[in-house]
Amino acid sequence: MTRRGSAAGSIVLAGVLASTLAGGAAAQDGAETPTSLTVLCTPQEDWCQAMVAAFGAQTGIPTSYVRLSSGEALARIRASAAAPEFSVWWGGPADGFVAANAEGLLEAYASPEAAVVADTQKDPDGVWTGVYVGALGLCSNASVLQELGVETPDSWDDLLDPRLQGQVAMAHPASSGTAYTALYTQVLRLGGEDAAIDFMKQLHNNILQYTKSGSAPAQMAGRGEVAVSVVFSHDCVKNFDEGFTDLVVSFPAEGTGYEIGGVALIKDAPEAEAARMWIDWSLTAAAQEIGQTVGSYQLPTNPNAAVSERSVNLADVNLVEYDFQAAGEARAALTQRFEDEVAAQPVE
Ligand code: G6P
Repeated sequence: MTRRGSAAGSIVLAGVLASTLAGGAAAQDGAETPTSLTVLCTPQEDWCQAMVAAFGAQTGIPTSYVRLSSGEALARIRASAAAPEFSVWWGGPADGFVAANAEGLLEAYASPEAAVVADTQKDPDGVWTGVYVGALGLCSNASVLQELGVETPDSWDDLLDPRLQGQVAMAHPASSGTAYTALYTQVLRLGGEDAAIDFMKQLHNNILQYTKSGSAPAQMAGRGEVAVSVVFSHDCVKNFDEGFTDLVVSFPAEGTGYEIGGVALIKDAPEAEAARMWIDWSLTAAAQEIGQTVGSYQLPTNPNAAVSERSVNLADVNLVEYDFQAAGEARAALTQRFEDEVAAQPVE
């Protein structure tokens, strides 16, 4: 892993450094191509793979990734802040980026490609920029529900049904951005953190398992290990398409949360030039159409990118008014409260 030493830039190729100083997003004419990029990648593994392969092929930069859930990614960036392991963080709900920025772990980069992205889908100072959007849903196994005699849930309170004891799975909000979105959604719809924690305590009675990764509960529902999972709806669709055909998506009628998946430059990035190139590229229509080739149907933030028919139509879903800045600022204390008052983080 390339690391930047205390003599900043001393291990960076001269041409790359010149290009960085010139503020160029792509390698400048005459500048040497950056020699590597390691992406901290939070979405689905196969999407990470497809993205790094496409970026590497297009730029000639050998590119790899490490896949970590949002909370784990944040912990890893924090742990290596003195000598960052990664230069760019791609994917995962924006509140994770806000939380990282509050700790001084990110560096603003206002990509020229971000101009097409709606103001509501990017940080005004360029700390993070939205690369996709997804809605939180309920992903149920129709056969299991039928055996239990339970209707497909279409409200948060439906998840508290005593017949669903041990039949609900979600990730843990400390490790997963998906689960943090679910937790903060309760804050918004119920009007405060106390009420949200109280709801989560009740839900805990029906939880079989908290997973580390946000999408893992959809697989549990697909396999029939639980009746219902709380995941982003596109993760349910992906699992359905991969063969778990008992899965059905529904949305809590009283309002559900959503994510803006972000991309950001990491502070003191060892591969800053390549990272900026990644950010620019990830905002293009072509890059944002890669997800749907591997069954990841998040909505693109680039309005010129094609939208798959398998993507959710947000106009059909009642969304809570999610404030990513406030959600990110509340993240550390609220996840700690969840750990103390509801459930500890999963070991595996
Ligand atoms: C899945 C979803 C992404 C989401 C990510 C967050 O991969 O497909 O849309 O951004 O989860 O990951 P996490 O494991 O932190 O919940």
